Amino acid sequence: MKNPPFLCAALLLFALAGPGNAQTQDAAAGSLLYRSLCASCHGVSGDGNGPVGRFLLPLPRDFRKAEFKYVSGNGGGATDHDLLRAIARGLTGSGMPSFGSLTLKEQETLITVIRGFAGTKQARAEEIPFPAGIQPDPARGQQLYENHCALCHGSSGRGDGPAAQGLLDGRGDPVRPRDLTKKADYRGGSMARDVYYRVRNGMPGSAMPAFELPDQDILSIAAFVTQRLAGNK
Ligand code: HEC
Ligand code: HEC
Repeated sequence: MKNPPFLCAALLLFALAGPGNAQTQDAAAGSLLYRSLCASCHGVSGDGNGPVGRFLLPLPRDFRKAEFKYVSGNGGGATDHDLLRAIARGLTGSGMPSFGSLTLKEQETLITVIRGFAGTKQARAEEIPFPAGIQPDPARGQQLYENHCALCHGSSGRGDGPAAQGLLDGRGDPVRPRDLTKKADYRGGSMARDVYYRVRNGMPGSAMPAFELPDQDILSIAAFVTQRLAGNK
């Protein structure tokens, strides 16, 4: 210890600029960003009822419920990666724009703000491991699709199955099954991996149910959907 006074000063500075303070600064920056970029739709209190948002269909997410649609986490919860994806890419075909021009740090700060609205219901889920070493069988996937999906999405995948009309989401608003032939309309991504998570978890708060099927079956359905139904539109 050659220079104790210097060390003391350094420790004091560290304490002042320590993690506590940085967190407070991040939180303040996060709320500011949220208020300027998100609150018009999602509401100042995160209730999904902002002055612009309340006229949209589907409505913006109500963050107080900690319920998300495009999720790959355990128990149908959202991982941070799921939320990052929605923020960075937006959700095509809905009012949710892309905020990919924000820095990763800004996007992460917004996730903290969003999760904060749900208080103790806040559910940061772990990602369900994507099954490895399974060979999907698209022909069998077609059979399974007929049995489990065609009722809503239609045999052609155009979202025109016999039960397509009259479906309601968790807030009582009408919702249509997605047209699975249009790649660009998959809000949560059109890779087999994305479809796997949509089928496994369903879309919480909407009319798309979760399916308790073996991974082999889900992957075969996902292969059929992405390889045979989804075009490049
Ligand atoms: C112009 C309106 C609008 C603005 C501005 C907006 N959103 Fe959204 N947001 C929506 C709509 C509409 C949805 C629901 C889309 C759906 O249900 O498919 C949504 C959904 C979401 C979701 C849910 C994703 C999921 O998996 O369920 C997240 C997260 C989100 N928005 C974050 C944000 C953040 C963060 C901001 C600000 C940086 C923001 N939004 C700004 C309209 C908006
Ligand atoms: C009870 C009707 C119903 C059944 C059965 C059903 N879906 Fe859906 N599905 C929906 C609705 C409604 C949506 C749109 C939800 C929304 O936008 O909030 C949807 C959305 C989806 C999406 C979302 C695409 C995206 O990222 O935007 C995929 C993928 C999907 N369904 C695949 C399937 C598959 C595969 C099956 C069979 C295993 C299936 N669905 C069974 C009603 C259904």
